[in-house]
Amino acid sequence: MATRFVLNTGAKMPAVGLGTWQSDPGVVGEAVYAAVKAGYRHIDCARAYNNEKEVGLALKKLFEEGTVKREDLFITSKLWCGHHAPEDVPEAIGDSLNDLQLEYLDLYLIHWPFRVKKGTSINNPENYIPPDIPATWGAMEKLHDAGKARAIGVSNFSSKKLGDLLSVARVPPAVNQVECHPGWQQSKLHAFCQSTGVHLSAYSPLGSPGSTWMNGNVLKEPVVLSVAEKLGKTPAQVALRWNIQMGHSVLPKSVSEERIKQNLDVNDWSIPDDLLAKFSEIKQVRLLRGNFIANPDSVYKTVEELWDGEI
Ligand code: A2P
Repeated sequence: MATRFVLNTGAKMPAVGLGTWQSDPGVVGEAVYAAVKAGYRHIDCARAYNNEKEVGLALKKLFEEGTVKREDLFITSKLWCGHHAPEDVPEAIGDSLNDLQLEYLDLYLIHWPFRVKKGTSINNPENYIPPDIPATWGAMEKLHDAGKARAIGVSNFSSKKLGDLLSVARVPPAVNQVECHPGWQQSKLHAFCQSTGVHLSAYSPLGSPGSTWMNGNVLKEPVVLSVAEKLGKTPAQVALRWNIQMGHSVLPKSVSEERIKQNLDVNDWSIPDDLLAKFSEIKQVRLLRGNFIANPDSVYKTVEELWDGEI
């Protein structure tokens, strides 16, 4: 039985989910299909990834073939920055549910703690308007009340932003999904999430090798390589297993059937404590710094402000 983490809602989230960021529409459907066939029960989606329609078609096929039932799966999507206005939030989840061909999400996240005018691009600082997270969260809580989102949470929130939200939330966030891997271990946020019962879910758990956005070296990191060699596992499996042993779910993205299978094979073995201790030697670098958001004319003038110093 695959590892599952219990959320503060009582729901169980499978520890490994398939990431779909940077998966082209043409290939993401096949990846989702192969993943569920291989045993994945958790798929991480977002409106901003521009591929939810293809994910939905793959899910439909899997349901029709009887491979899985809806209730066997844990599906996440995310509210994009142009839909933060409370009156726009129902439309946003409606669009995602429509494309995914689902009645409800297991988890719906505020994708980023920044906001742009509806229908505008994040590439132009003039489009930025100050976020009102408590107001947006109120609309998220209504989706939770209505059963459209069985759990709600956030993504890319610093400890401070998460703490601010926790102090006003009626329904506390279940999850904060952030960049996390051996090369960016999020030790402060990890401790804060543990003490407040918010589950930390790790995106780019392999450091997104080859990505134009990030291109990390996690899979070439000497500690990861030596632990992999000692345990007879691949560097990717060791990176994923490290996160799981920290209590974090992982969302590795792959469009290769072989690597999709490899990334799920991280549940029934462990990194022993003496080798786990070596991960503290790894140099820490945030890969997705969010420079595209930080701008003197924008709400966050610097990346330090965006991450409240956790950089
Ligand atoms: P591919 O889709 O061709 O498998 P992250 O999840 O950290 O964003 O990393 C995703 C990147 O890592 C993709 O380029 C993906 O390529 C690659 N990748 C996924 N799984 C593995 C693996 N087991 N070993 C090496 N590279 C992998």
